[in-house]
Amino acid sequence: MDKFVIHGGKKLKGTVQASGAKNASLALMPATLLASGEYKLHNTPELRDVATMSRLLETMGLKIRRDDHTLTINSSSITSFEAPYEHVKKMRASIYVLGPLVGRFGQADVSLPGGCAWGPRPVNLHIEGLRKLGAEIEVEGGYIRARAKRLHGARIVFDVSSVGATGNVMMAAVLAQGTTVIDNAAMEPEIAALGHFLRAMGAKIDGVGTNHLEIEGVDALHPADCVTIPDRIETGTLLIAAALVGDRNASVRIERCSPSHMSAVTTKLEDVGAKLTLGKDFIEIVPPESIRPVNITTSIYSGFPTDMQAQWMALMSLAQGTSIITETIYSDRFMHVPELIRLGCNITVKDNIATVVGVHRLMGAKVMSTDLRASASLILAGLAAEGMTEVLRVYHLDRGYEQIERKLASLGAEIERASGEEF
Ligand code: UD1
Repeated sequence: MDKFVIHGGKKLKGTVQASGAKNASLALMPATLLASGEYKLHNTPELRDVATMSRLLETMGLKIRRDDHTLTINSSSITSFEAPYEHVKKMRASIYVLGPLVGRFGQADVSLPGGCAWGPRPVNLHIEGLRKLGAEIEVEGGYIRARAKRLHGARIVFDVSSVGATGNVMMAAVLAQGTTVIDNAAMEPEIAALGHFLRAMGAKIDGVGTNHLEIEGVDALHPADCVTIPDRIETGTLLIAAALVGDRNASVRIERCSPSHMSAVTTKLEDVGAKLTLGKDFIEIVPPESIRPVNITTSIYSGFPTDMQAQWMALMSLAQGTSIITETIYSDRFMHVPELIRLGCNITVKDNIATVVGVHRLMGAKVMSTDLRASASLILAGLAAEGMTEVLRVYHLDRGYEQIERKLASLGAEIERASGEEF
């Protein structure tokens, strides 16, 4: 199992390119189940989760080829409507095949994803939404078994704004008979990207990017190509790295990113004292002289993303004062706290609120990755810590960050991947 070895304290400067968004790719790829033919998905990041989605789609008969960052997907022959546990347990986003399979073929057997490192993550909204469209769904033997004739339009108001449920119901509704209205739909850019892709495939969707979607079902869709949007969480993670250990006499510039998706994070970084320059597709950051404590509360887009909460905690650990981090999306998502404390952070958690008392310095240690974004926070803290930090079990990072160690090393960090050790 690979680990990262970091020698902290190196100052970062220079330019890196953002990768395509993991969470957009994981929605776009299963959308190819909706129409037979060949698709090209450009700017697809090379990640373990993308590989897992590819394997899953291949078990259903799709042919997938990667040339650099372009995936060519041929969905002309679909032979199975099942997402087995062995794939779903690796990646919850496997559930995205449910909507397109029910919508087009009226049949899907998708393993229940179960919990994850930070607690239960229900899929009730996916199931209720599809039932409203006319699917008959049973949950038995650990599987969601959905059957339908042609789905019909319906009015759906989600109790909770859910990225996955919005994506699934949207993909099912595009081929339903009649009009579907989804209220309290997720507005995350990755769901908007899915909406644009479905429109390019011939779907009729109004309100893409808003919380009110109107979908007029069509009889058939056709293949299309697309360019995956940049990964706002990767960009945000790199910005925090720069805020923590950037060179004050230079800057870190992130190119091919999407500043318009980043306001919640960039404004908070300005509050911290960093200087940011935002272009159309780049962000430049000069770190603050000292890090001011800034509270955050995670929320749905366009609020502060839960996927950036752990990284923000690493930044606040070196702030000149105390900050409060409130997690409203996943109340238990604090697996990184005990590991950050091993590096010298001063954090206490009560219910869904973490209190971070800034310290003057962190000290390198061995720490364990527990999930994707938690691992990112450990790397950030390791970059700022004195001495050597070893981040174990980096396969979590490989799920969602494309060559993070190379990107950070190109900015001047001393970080390398070491393999062959048992942990
Ligand atoms: C997606 C992202 C993940 C991100 C999360 C929140 C992907 C592949 N993953 O996950 O990185 O952290 O959005 O921005 O895009 N909920 C229910 N019932 C459901 C579904 C969700 O109660 O059926 C709740 C969840 O417990 C959570 C909230 O809704 O409290 C939001 O979750 P959701 O947006 O569905 O997250 P995912 O789509 O799983």
